[in-house]
Amino acid sequence: MFEHIPPFAGDPILSLNEDFQNDPRPQKINLSIGIYFDDAGRIPVMDSVQRAEALVVAKGGPKTSLPIEGAANFRAAVQQLLFGAGSEAIASKRVATIQSVGSSGGLRVGADFIATHFKGSQVWVSDPTWDNHRAMFEGAGLTVNTYPYYDAQGPTTSHPHRVAGGLNFDAMIATLRGLPARSIVLLHACCHNPTGVDLTRAQWDELIPVLRDGGLIPYLDLAYQGFGGGIEEDAYAVRALAGAGVSFFIANSFSKSMSVYGERCGALSVVCPSAQEAALVLGQMKYTVRRNYSSPPIHGGQLVATVLAEPALRRNWEAELGAMRERILAMRVKLHGVLAARLPNRDFGYILTQRGMFSYTGMTAAQVDALREAHGVYMVRSGRMCVAGLNSGNVEATATAMAAVLGG
Ligand code: LMR
Repeated sequence: MFEHIPPFAGDPILSLNEDFQNDPRPQKINLSIGIYFDDAGRIPVMDSVQRAEALVVAKGGPKTSLPIEGAANFRAAVQQLLFGAGSEAIASKRVATIQSVGSSGGLRVGADFIATHFKGSQVWVSDPTWDNHRAMFEGAGLTVNTYPYYDAQGPTTSHPHRVAGGLNFDAMIATLRGLPARSIVLLHACCHNPTGVDLTRAQWDELIPVLRDGGLIPYLDLAYQGFGGGIEEDAYAVRALAGAGVSFFIANSFSKSMSVYGERCGALSVVCPSAQEAALVLGQMKYTVRRNYSSPPIHGGQLVATVLAEPALRRNWEAELGAMRERILAMRVKLHGVLAARLPNRDFGYILTQRGMFSYTGMTAAQVDALREAHGVYMVRSGRMCVAGLNSGNVEATATAMAAVLGG
């Protein structure tokens, strides 16, 4: 009956993480999956989240299903976090938000919505982007294209200000200017995955009129809020788009920012021109959810809502998240220092300028394979390193291994 079923080819990130778990070498180092590990190499259970969990458990209550769109307190808290307390878009009720099963679940509900209601629209993702973006949108039946983003080359005579390992903003904006109206433009709101290369505020300010005037539909992915410049700083693009009157989608996640990966807590919000349109959009998002999994789970969403709503827990969470961000920055400095000392003729400046959990090392797939096979250091074959997997016990070994592979 099932002989014709093709074998699963594996996932470039999740399968690699499984390979790491099965690797018997004690000195192995996991810089593959986008998970924040603390300096002892553990996935932290945040104090703020633990305290919220105690409150949620003490409150108790029946385990009835949530409404299709999720818990009202979670949805309200998410809107405030994304758009800010004084947001006109929230006050005007022109944001439709559902609680989703991770931000992946939100991305996919949005992709299904677009496939149904924006027939003919194609999706444009950055080159490169998170490996699963293409799969999700193609899985919804949409055509996925790329726009230029990461600058591997650096300065040329005609573009002397380009930076190798940075953003090729001119090429990006030129491509987006040429897209047909209602094209979907997938953008990373902060901490770009996989490159760690973000737009500056000035670049967002230049990009947003291009999106608005071209009638394009931005689709933001905000999976790492708080890991770039801070919780408010990382919401800049969200608030600037809303303020400019652009209609857009945003999927956001708490997996990383609250270290609640397995709780699958995320949301999908669609910013609409009016409250009437937001009600229509919410209705169709609910229709999609009902046809897929009926409603989201309760527990994780209540942890998130409690952390965000209780002032003491909120302060605690912001401090904990700030410490995580600082630790990643310290690891960037350390890795850069050792590599620069070992290979003084190479430029590792990108490690310091890229932001968030990831750095794009420029290493080839063959070099990444050599790093894994000879040294037990795991990175994604695109050359993406999860800097949040570095700690004071493994950063030197990582730098030594990289230097050996890079020819030091
Ligand atoms: C990653 O990029 O490694 C994370 O977002 C985890 C995942 O699901 O791919």
